[in-house]
Order: sequence, then C-alpha cells, then structure tokens
Amino acid sequence: MRPIILLLLSLIVGVAYAQQTPTEQWRPAFHFSPAQNWTNDPNGLVFLDGEWHIFYQHNPFENKWGHMSWGHAVSKDLVKWEHLPVAIPEDSVWIFSGSVVVDKNNTSGFGANSMIAIYTADYHGKKENQHLAYSTDKGRTWTKYKKNPLIAAPLPDGKVMKDFRDPNVFWHEPSKQWIMTLALPTEFKIHIYGSKNLLNWNFLSEFGKQGDITKIWECPALIELPVEGKATSQWVLFISASNPHPDFVGMQYFVGNFDGKTFTNTNKPDTKLYVDYGKDFYAAIPFNNTPRKLLLGWMASWQYTDALPTFPWKGQMSIPREISLKAMPEGIRLVQKPADEILKAKNWRGIVQMEEMGIEEDNGMMWHNQSSAYMIDVEFELSGASEVGVKVFRNQSTNQETLIGYQRDTEQLYVNRINSGKIISANFPSMDAIPMKTARGTVRMQIFVDKSSVEVFGNDGEATITSLVFPEGGKSDWQLFSRNGRAKVTKLKVWEWQE
Ligand code: FRU
Repeated sequence: MRPIILLLLSLIVGVAYAQQTPTEQWRPAFHFSPAQNWTNDPNGLVFLDGEWHIFYQHNPFENKWGHMSWGHAVSKDLVKWEHLPVAIPEDSVWIFSGSVVVDKNNTSGFGANSMIAIYTADYHGKKENQHLAYSTDKGRTWTKYKKNPLIAAPLPDGKVMKDFRDPNVFWHEPSKQWIMTLALPTEFKIHIYGSKNLLNWNFLSEFGKQGDITKIWECPALIELPVEGKATSQWVLFISASNPHPDFVGMQYFVGNFDGKTFTNTNKPDTKLYVDYGKDFYAAIPFNNTPRKLLLGWMASWQYTDALPTFPWKGQMSIPREISLKAMPEGIRLVQKPADEILKAKNWRGIVQMEEMGIEEDNGMMWHNQSSAYMIDVEFELSGASEVGVKVFRNQSTNQETLIGYQRDTEQLYVNRINSGKIISANFPSMDAIPMKTARGTVRMQIFVDKSSVEVFGNDGEATITSLVFPEGGKSDWQLFSRNGRAKVTKLKVWEWQE
C-alpha cells in the first residue's frame, strides 16, 4: 500500500476512534480483557516455563468481530496479564479457535518444547480446514506450517462440510498419542482424531446427537477430572452449545469414559448438563501442559455481542476456574471453584469481616467501597426468610442494582440483572437461576464483582452464574438482604481490589 493511502486510512481510523468515548469505568480489574479491540473465545490456553498464555480470538483492527487472528497475553500469576503482539494474524484465511500444546519430546520435529498451535483456518465462511503453526521462542513468534492443512474438509465419510472447527488437542498418556476433538457444529457431532506427531491425524471415532442439540455445537474439549473425595476420575467433554435458556448460547458437558479412541457418555443420551446458568460464559477450554485442571471462558454471549457498549475493547474472559467432579444424589456433577491465584491475589484488601449477624429485609447497612471491583464471600442461614442475598452495584441516583440471591421455595441461586444498568439490547435484562440445595439450611455465595460483571459461585462451586452488567451513574454500594423474615449471616468477608 502507498504511504499516502496508509496515512489516509490511519486518519480515518483515528477519527472514528476519537469519536467514541472510552469506557474505562467498565474495564475489568482482575478479569482479562484485550488492551483494545475485539475478543471472543479464549484459544490455546497453555502453561510453559512459569508463564500462563492466553491466546484469544481477536480483531486487531476494529472493535468488532472480523479479521480473525490470535491475540496473545502472558501472565506469571493468572492475575496480571502482559499484552503481547498479535501471535497468529489472518492471511488469506481467518484464524479461528483452536488450542496450543507443548511438544516436550519433539514428536513433530519442530524442536523439543516447541509450542504447537492447531486451529481452524476459515475460508471466509466457505470452508474450514485445520491448520498448524509453531513457535520455538515461547510463543513470541509463530511460523505457519508449510504443509497445511493438517485435516481438510471433506471429512472421512466423504461429505464436504462447511462447518468443521475448533480443534482441541492434548497428550493422552495411556495410548501414547495426541488426541484432538473437533466440532461438526451443524451436525451436533464431535470427531475424535489421534496422532503420534501432531502432523498426521487418524480419525478415531464420533460422538454426538446427545444432550442439548437446540443450538450448534462449537469448541469441544475433553479432559479427565478427579471425583472429589474419591480416588477415581472420569472424563468430561465440554461443548459450547445451548443455554438452559434456549434462546441463548451457553455450555454443556457430558460425563463419561475415554479409552484412547472413543468417548462414551455414562448418562442417558437425553441428560442435559450445563456448565454455567448465566448468559455470559461460552467457548471455555482448559489450560494445557499443566497438572492443574483450570477452565477459562469468554464472558459474553453471541446474542448481543454487537451491542457490547465498551470502548476501546469489547469482550473479556472469566476468571480461571479450578474444575473437578463431585458425586451428588443426582449423579456425578461438575464443580467449579475460583482459582487460588485469584483468591490469593496481592491486590485484595480486606474491608469487612463479620460473623453471626442477623438481617431483616433491607437492613439499612450499606457498604460503600472505594472501587467497583470486589469479592464477597458470604454464608447465610435462611432461618425464617424466604430469600437471602446481596445487592451489588446499588446506585441511589439511578436506582440501579444487581441482585444475587437464593430462594428457599424454588431452591435456586439467581442473578437478577433486570435493572442492573445500561440495557444494551432488548434481550439483555434477565433473571438467571440455577437449582441448588441448601447445605443444612445454609448457602454460600462467592461473588466476584468486577466493574462490568458478576461471577457467582454457589456452595463451593456446585453452581455458577456469570453475568455482564453495565452499571451507570458512578459510585455504587452493596447491601445484604432477606425477604419475608429474619435470616442470619453466619460468615461474611469482603475484599476490595486495589491497583
Ligand atoms: C465460538 C466460535 C468458534 C469459532 C470462533 C470464530 O464462539 O464461533 O466456533 O472458531 O468463534 O471467531
């Protein structure tokens, strides 16, 4: 391109940017967000030599979906992220979602400990192939493999497939091979491939048409998880698909076995298990190359992404979640806990610590924090009350608030963002609830409030609800509440985030 055209282009882009007002009041403090421009799915989550890597679906040029490339950031503690240059830029194809593995033993020939990215090359909506790129300098520079594609449409059964994407790869020690799960979104199927060298892949098996098939299937990920309190483990297949609320996308999971070839669902095929009951948790995948079982997802929903009101970035990630399984009366279920790194971050300053306190209705006690990034860990004894909870982002001038509560009769944990702030689209205001039992009459809520989101973990991670909110009107406060009777707060601890 001629310098004069480049200059004109940058002027136009510059003017367009200058016309928008930055929304730093909604910039998350302890959730990852790109410095600027668009993100959706996390990609290639991996740990190597003391560094956590987030690659992510990124438009390097605009604050909306397009020019799909892989953005990149690294962190030593999963809390503070250093933004790095775009890792894998688009060329004649878009770089869609995928994963990164560390090739310790140089099975691929690109070098011991090289990072191997396997992702979908999307031909601008016409076709999807699986490609590889490698890095021998800890992800700082990437080379696209000359012999791409690794796996091309058409598929093994001879059918040409337009939607065929989101390879997720991991090393499977018992069968001594790399395993890849790939989504056939419109068929509601996952294809499983195996490889000895990350270059040549064999089709192994197919899984699908089970669970929730009301929305397309994307971003599969297979992982073995321990069952809490037992010396056993089970395999979990995560799929980004539909939401408990069928008009929205969300994530489901299957619990089963994987023998190095086939995944078998141990539940009935029509059992629907959801990862998160909010509207804003999607495309989550686990971190590779670590014994830790950490899941991280995109905190937004395709249903209103165009309307996200933030600038100069759009999109943020959940906090990393430590995942495991637990035997519950209804079967083996996923448990998600906030990662220790977040809980123990140096930035937390304890501001409230109380025990055994009675609350009645809106009991008048309001806490004004310095910052709108805080963490509340509260345990309620419902006693006579029908409902207990916390109102966050309470703003007396705008009358806005987000409610996190528990209802005794319906046995549900909920987040109510109906009057939480800016209504970014007609389908944004909602009350999202998840079934949760009390534990001997008590409920625990770990609530992460971060400028433009609430991420709630109920009863030690048995239930999660993730919701974006866009509170307006400056400083807000928070308050405990009960309804129709007196309840007890058995434990309350609150920390505020300090930069
Ligand atoms: C999921 C997804 C993936 C795709 C990517 C494109 O959110 O649709 O299936 O690879 O986003 O940005």
